[in-house]
Amino acid sequence: LYPTFIHKLLAGVGKIREKAMPFLGVAVVLLLSLASPASSCTEQERGALLGFLGGLMPGGNGGLKVSWVNGTDCCKWEGIVCSSDGTVTDVLLASKGLRGVISSSLGDLAGLKRLNLSHNWLEGSLLTELVFSRSIIVLDVSFNRLDGHLQELQSPNPALPLQVLNISSNLFTGHFPSTAWGAMKNLVALNASNNSFTGQMPSSICTNAPSFAMLDLSYNQFSGTISLGLGSRSMLKVLKVGHNSLSGALPVELFNATTLEQLSLPNNFLQGVLDGSHIAKLSNLTVLNLGSTGLSGKIPDSVGQLKRLEELYLDNNNMSGELPSALGNCSNLRYITIRNNSFIGDLSTVNFTMLDLRIADFSMNLFTGPIPESIYSCSNLVALRLAYNNFHGHFSPRIGNLRSLSFFSITNNSFKNITNALQMLKSCKNLTSLLIGINFKGETIPQDETIDGFENLQVLTIDDCPLVGQDPLWISNLENLGMLDLSLNQLTGQIPSWIDGLGFLFFLDISSNQLSGNIPTALSKLPMLLSERNAAKLDTRFLELPAFWTPLRQYRTVGAFPSKLCLDNNNFTGVIPPEIGQLKMLDILNLSSNSLTGEIPQEICNLTNLQTLDLSDNQLTGAIPSALSDLHFLSRFDVSNNKLEGEVPSGGQFDSFSNSSYSGNPKLCGPMINNDCNSRPSSASGKRRNNLRPALVIGITAGGLIALILNG
Ligand SMILES: *[C@@H]1O[C@H](CO)[C@@H](O)[C@H](O)[C@H]1NC(C)=O
Ligand SMILES: *[C@@H]1O[C@H](CO)[C@@H](O)[C@H](O)[C@H]1NC(C)=O
Ligand SMILES: *[C@@H]1O[C@H](CO)[C@@H](O)[C@H](O)[C@H]1NC(C)=O
Ligand SMILES: *[C@@H]1O[C@H](CO)[C@@H](O)[C@H](O)[C@H]1NC(C)=O
Ligand SMILES: *[C@@H]1O[C@H](CO)[C@@H](O)[C@H](O)[C@H]1NC(C)=O
Ligand SMILES: *[C@@H]1O[C@H](CO)[C@@H](O)[C@H](O)[C@H]1NC(C)=O
Ligand SMILES: *[C@@H]1O[C@H](CO)[C@@H](O)[C@H](O)[C@H]1NC(C)=O
Ligand SMILES: *[C@@H]1O[C@H](CO)[C@@H](O)[C@H](O)[C@H]1NC(C)=O
Ligand SMILES: *[C@@H]1O[C@H](CO)[C@@H](O)[C@H](O)[C@H]1NC(C)=O
Ligand SMILES: *[C@@H]1O[C@H](CO)[C@@H](O)[C@H](O)[C@H]1NC(C)=O
Ligand SMILES: *[C@@H]1O[C@H](CO)[C@@H](O)[C@H](O)[C@H]1NC(C)=O
Ligand SMILES: *[C@@H]1O[C@H](CO)[C@@H](O)[C@H](O)[C@H]1NC(C)=O
Repeated sequence: LYPTFIHKLLAGVGKIREKAMPFLGVAVVLLLSLASPASSCTEQERGALLGFLGGLMPGGNGGLKVSWVNGTDCCKWEGIVCSSDGTVTDVLLASKGLRGVISSSLGDLAGLKRLNLSHNWLEGSLLTELVFSRSIIVLDVSFNRLDGHLQELQSPNPALPLQVLNISSNLFTGHFPSTAWGAMKNLVALNASNNSFTGQMPSSICTNAPSFAMLDLSYNQFSGTISLGLGSRSMLKVLKVGHNSLSGALPVELFNATTLEQLSLPNNFLQGVLDGSHIAKLSNLTVLNLGSTGLSGKIPDSVGQLKRLEELYLDNNNMSGELPSALGNCSNLRYITIRNNSFIGDLSTVNFTMLDLRIADFSMNLFTGPIPESIYSCSNLVALRLAYNNFHGHFSPRIGNLRSLSFFSITNNSFKNITNALQMLKSCKNLTSLLIGINFKGETIPQDETIDGFENLQVLTIDDCPLVGQDPLWISNLENLGMLDLSLNQLTGQIPSWIDGLGFLFFLDISSNQLSGNIPTALSKLPMLLSERNAAKLDTRFLELPAFWTPLRQYRTVGAFPSKLCLDNNNFTGVIPPEIGQLKMLDILNLSSNSLTGEIPQEICNLTNLQTLDLSDNQLTGAIPSALSDLHFLSRFDVSNNKLEGEVPSGGQFDSFSNSSYSGNPKLCGPMINNDCNSRPSSASGKRRNNLRPALVIGITAGGLIALILNG
């Protein structure tokens, strides 16, 4: 701020003493300006500003007290700008950590033009003195905690000067006042997004303000139909009303706003179709976002007339039909998603030779045919998702042209020849996420040494094909791999001992295969699962497209996924290695439905992050370690169908697990499962006492002492 301050000061002084300027140093100018009464603010302005300071909480004045001292020239105070005659014109206090209320005294600054208080912690209401000020042109109070209703204007003023009003990201509620805005003839931009406004959209703004160009009402609770009162001379360029509860069809008047460049209405309850003759009128559109609105019907041919279109979102609707080949005329497209509709046909009808195309999501439709050849000429393509369609065919060597491709998902289609697919894809050097599961039915997982490359791969899923064969060695070369999902295949053999060489692996799902042998101790050495310090190395960059692991849950970064080891539903034998207790970062451990024997190792109680522990359907013996009740995040616990005995732990999370967590273990007892440990006949065999000993030691600290002594 200091340089701006000096700059303004110089500008002001320059006017007064133009001739002196070239000869004087900055210090002298400062001195002169101090001495010049013409450039200092008035007593009233000083009082108004001090009144504002007085509204702030003692610890929440952002250090303003240092420069805002009564008796000094307020034009020199932090955040204040004056005109050459010493009138306060700007109060610029964004991101100062201000707490408290906005004092009405600011309304006394008769020459105030710009007030910027954004990104603070201000609360209370927004005063009419400011909104309906006779001087303020730009008012920005976005990102605060202001609340209450906006006031109506009592006696409409013919021409309020306000041009820019940003009240977004606050806690405002109630209806948006309508008549007040009739007086805002100079309004150019209004951002009221991310509040809790209700009722009908304000409709008179556009009619009354001839230069009105930007309206953002997204993330509120507006309902009713889209009504704008757009005049035929509308200058509206940006209209964003997404994430509200609007209903009805897209109104015809909307398409009279031919100046529109961004039309964004996602997440509403609209209906109807996208009319071809209407949409063609918006020839300057660069962004069209109608995702999750409930639209049906086809994409009209006339979309091809939107030559400037850069972003097209029609995802999560009820749209159908084939893509119009005219879509290929939108040669400036950078982002297209039509995910989750009922589009049919062959994508090859569209010429996707679009040099700027970066993100394309065609997933969850009914597309058939091969990947269109023209896609391979999109050399800037970063993310391509074709998942959940009926695409088939082979991959062309031209896929290697996609040098920027980082995210590629073809999950659940009918592609063939996984060996070929991997051989082709390995030339996409920038791939970080490769999701190719539910394809390649019944093929053999390639063991091929010539599958190399994939240096940057972080996510690899080849689940549910089902593939036969063994864990292939080429995976051991994927140095950056964080997530590996090979579940629901028919892989045989053992977990390879090189597994701990995967220095970034934190998510391993090899469940539902036919793997056998012991659980190798190598698994207990996965660096990412060992310490927080290692885990912090995980990539926090955003995925190019969110990844969906369950239909409802989307993940935007790789690091957001839970860390897990899922070895369930295989043929593993032997004991659970106690070393597994070293994997402190583990969130989910599932070893169920194997043939594991021995006791549950005490060391599992060291897994303090654990949320899910499933050891069901094995042949585990001995007691359940009572210290498991110290696992505060455990929300799923299952040891059913084993040969466990002794008392079920209680306390902590264990008070919330139901009987089914323990069923199929006739020798378990305790109040948690309504099976009194004392009433059990001949249960005090020597073997059982031995098994209980470790539990007893832990039990003392966990407060289970009495029960255990009685039991013994
Ligand atoms: C600032 O000083 C003037 C004159 O000394 C005094 O009248 C006024 O009350 C003071 N204002 C505040 C907020 O202390
Ligand atoms: C207010 O200040 C913030 C932070 O400097 C800036 O990002 C924002 O554009 C300003 N608002 C206006 C309307 O200029
Ligand atoms: C508030 O909105 C105005 C108008 O769009 C904009 O110039 C300003 O940068 C926004 N303020 C912030 C903090 O983003
Ligand atoms: C309105 O403000 C929000 C932040 O509160 C910002 O994210 C959004 O981009 C703004 N809208 C426009 C059109 O600038
Ligand atoms: C909405 O406002 C809250 C609180 O100011 C802020 O944390 C959040 O980022 C805003 N959301 C958007 C979409 O701008
Ligand atoms: C759209 O504009 C035309 C003239 O360009 C006008 O005749 C028509 O009434 C307008 N429609 C609406 C709904 O505003
Ligand atoms: C479209 O944009 C161009 C250039 O920005 C402008 O000259 C033209 O008037 C705009 N068309 C409409 C209908 O606003
Ligand atoms: C697709 O468009 C590109 C560039 O516009 C053109 O060179 C190419 O011949 C077209 N391909 C087909 C099959 O029409
Ligand atoms: C590959 O990815 C890196 C890192 O994200 C990026 O800097 C580089 O530009 C990408 N290469 C291409 C050809 O897009
Ligand atoms: C799969 O592709 C490979 C190499 O691309 C080829 O050698 C092989 O014959 C193909 N297999 C089948 C079954 O088509
Ligand atoms: C599991 O292993 C046993 C003995 O080694 C074998 O009899 C059984 O067929 C295997 N089950 C599966 C599903 O592979
Ligand atoms: C893990 O648990 C064992 C036995 O329960 C204990 O001796 C050991 O100190 C624990 N290790 C860590 C790192 O907490």
